[in-house]
Amino acid sequence: MGEPEMSEAEWKEGLEGVVAARTALTHIDGQAGRLFLCGYEIGELAPAACFEETLHLLWSGRLPTVEECDRLRARLAARRELSTPTRQALEVAAAQRRSPIEALRLGVESLPSVDGDEELRLRLAAGLPAIVAAYWRLQNGQDPVPSDPRRGQADDLLHMLFGRDPSPSHVRALDTYLNTMADHGLNASTFTARIIVSTQSDLTSAVVGALGALKGPIHGGAPGPVLEMLQTIGTPERAELVVRDLLDRGQRVMGFGHREYRVRDPRARILSAAAAEVVGGRGNSLYELARSVEKVAEEALEQTKPGRHLKTNAEFYTAVLLHELGLPAELFTSLFAVSRVSGWIAHALEQAAANRIFRPASRYCGAAPRPWVPLSKRPAA
Ligand SMILES: CC(C)(COP(=O)(O)OP(=O)(O)OC[C@H]1O[C@@H](n2cnc3c(N)ncnc32)[C@H](O)[C@@H]1OP(=O)(O)O)[C@@H](O)C(=O)NCCC(=O)NCCS
Repeated sequence: MGEPEMSEAEWKEGLEGVVAARTALTHIDGQAGRLFLCGYEIGELAPAACFEETLHLLWSGRLPTVEECDRLRARLAARRELSTPTRQALEVAAAQRRSPIEALRLGVESLPSVDGDEELRLRLAAGLPAIVAAYWRLQNGQDPVPSDPRRGQADDLLHMLFGRDPSPSHVRALDTYLNTMADHGLNASTFTARIIVSTQSDLTSAVVGALGALKGPIHGGAPGPVLEMLQTIGTPERAELVVRDLLDRGQRVMGFGHREYRVRDPRARILSAAAAEVVGGRGNSLYELARSVEKVAEEALEQTKPGRHLKTNAEFYTAVLLHELGLPAELFTSLFAVSRVSGWIAHALEQAAANRIFRPASRYCGAAPRPWVPLSKRPAA
């Protein structure tokens, strides 16, 4: 039977704890709740840098100088204008009422093919926000807003979505979000991208595959259901009732738990602080409600799954921050992709530079060897 059977001890469901790649990009300390991007603690980097700095860091391993950052911003800006084939692909998707994340996948596939990895990675990073914004407007019967090449990625994304100048505080908050979510080890979508690149396939295929993995509700699809849950709860007093009911029905509380962390996800703190900034002193906010729900849910989860330490993850406060920025829930997964594409590309480059095709083994658990019976001799069922 070809490959030897693996022992039970070697088999890790969901590859938990299995080291499947070497990376110089992200270091996660799941016990201490710390996250570093190329050596920089995420709590220092994310709230201070613009997204272009993070892109430069992930793609080159070091922070840019002022000139390098300006150059990257200009090169991305020059590639945000959508081509006619992409615009047409989005119009077809809108007529078919495709979801924003499906339209993003189609839009990425329609981007012009170009020579050279560097040009392609710029086009992908610049193309994603342009596609997300254009599709949202088409879906709502509005003309896409042309990109403004003087703006950075975060600024122009808000401008292309809403057709007006965003406030500096909103741009800052979106930069913080994009930085916070840019890379996170071998999460399912990044692993998908690396697997695709390991076959010597192309970068666009890696991004399309990664988008497919991201859209699942327990990966990048989580923030939408988080918002729904918070809206169902409605007031802090109802938090206990709704959370207990979910757990009694054996359901997962979205926005809690993480494969890597046994403490609160450090990204939750950054996104929560960014949401607090956006809300200012305004009372009765989703942010305020989320703080109460977090406390109640963590206590309830500790009682239901003692010792598992199911704490708030990044998706919980992603939902809160993006909602407070006025961004629609339908776009949450696509906005995650606008950020994470930076990490997918960085991992793709890393994989290609020291490649060995991924080909894990499987543990056979099917029928024992048995004789073939011709169709005419098989007994009726
Ligand atoms: C993120 C997630 C997929 C991690 O999964 P994982 O590492 O495979 O964790 P496990 O599925 O092994 O969970 C261990 C136990 O805790 C439970 N659990 C994990 N997260 C839970 C949650 N959010 N609510 C309720 N129970 C949860 C599981 O049901 C499991 O219980 P069991 O051992 O009795 O079967 C998981 O925590 C989850 O589904 N969270 C909600 C979705 C979400 O927020 N995703 C965004 C991730 S950033």
